Amino acid sequence: MKKKLIGPFSQLLTLRSLPMYGALSDQQLEVITDGALVIEDGRITDMGKHAELLNRYAAEHILMSEPSVCTPAYVDCHTHIAFAGNRANDFALRNSGASYLEIAEAGGGIWSTVLHTRSASLEELVANICLRAQSLMQQGVTTIEVKSGYGLSVEQEIKILRAIRIANQHVAVDLVPTCLAAHMKPHDFTGSASAYLSEIATKLFPILRDEHLARRIDIFIEKSAFSVAEAEPYLLEAKRQGFDITVHADQFTAGGSRLAIQVGAVSADHLEASTAREAALFAQSKTVAVALPGASMGLGSPYTDARDLLDQDACLAIATDWNPGSAPMGQLMVQASVFAAAQKLSNAELFAAITYRAAKAVSLSDRGILDIGMLADFCTYSTENYQNITYLQGTLQPQQVWKNGKCIYQ
Ligand code: NIG
Ligand code: FE
Repeated sequence: MKKKLIGPFSQLLTLRSLPMYGALSDQQLEVITDGALVIEDGRITDMGKHAELLNRYAAEHILMSEPSVCTPAYVDCHTHIAFAGNRANDFALRNSGASYLEIAEAGGGIWSTVLHTRSASLEELVANICLRAQSLMQQGVTTIEVKSGYGLSVEQEIKILRAIRIANQHVAVDLVPTCLAAHMKPHDFTGSASAYLSEIATKLFPILRDEHLARRIDIFIEKSAFSVAEAEPYLLEAKRQGFDITVHADQFTAGGSRLAIQVGAVSADHLEASTAREAALFAQSKTVAVALPGASMGLGSPYTDARDLLDQDACLAIATDWNPGSAPMGQLMVQASVFAAAQKLSNAELFAAITYRAAKAVSLSDRGILDIGMLADFCTYSTENYQNITYLQGTLQPQQVWKNGKCIYQ
């Protein structure tokens, strides 16, 4: 690909040289004024002051209309966008006072989405994933983790993961697949929860490896799903077979995050019920703590204590958890900036949580900051100050979105 020089940017927010763990202040942010990027073959090859770079390079010049702010593109490291159907009635029932259990008994809950997703064709699922990925892309998200988990049988989980793989070929962003066959024990499985998990581990894991359908295994540890004792052998087996581990942990009951950290999970996500004790464990580990404020907003339940996690030195990421049940909104910047106001997160902490720290949660180190050698994945905004992006709480949308050195949206 030909060399391109892109600029000038009133502000280039690089996020480079920031630590992976712990609290961040806005004074630590590098903001290059009148900046520019030089890109070639999908990567950033130089960056700095626009005027200096213009002198140095005879590259194709992509002129930005001023004012313009450039940020790294975002990573949504936890979504369930591979589903069919709708759970608006669950939302209405919850807001009229029904409990989770009552909703499940009335035919709602995860199982109802499983039934809809099972009856959807592969093509229908691919189309659904592409539409939702497109919506995130327009928000500046160029890497999206996508979980299965609404199939809950070997065959149906394979269908969903194949749909994710096909969708990945149709969209300009990167989809990172995760197998969440352990979302709950399916109602039509007659054996125990442990028997279900061992069937998945023995029958599905080898297919995931052989067909390159997923390198990551997730499990929902919660009262309505799997216990810590049931999850442990499953996660150890996944690890033994070479998968990365991630866990839905501590959403309503603490316990899952401790196991996640023990088995060396790349991330433990939710954490609304985690306490200072769990935060201390995260701080001593490399496991990324992923907050999902969209689920708190969807359920009207408490937020994850992100402030404490950061103050204790954990690595904090924020993701949408986009799913039809708990988090139907699918708006990363809206959620991150509303959450930041509630949790007193600095702009540096917010941007880190949806860029390079979120990339770590999906084991990627080539994106999430603007620096020489990194992927040329970035957003531009028609504004003079990066602070406006979080201040406007997601209502200021990117003007352009670039992925691998190509403008994929404007
Ligand atoms: O992350 N907590 C478990 N799974 C999803 C919700 C799935 C659903 O309700 O369909 C979550 O919130
Ligand atoms: Fe989730």
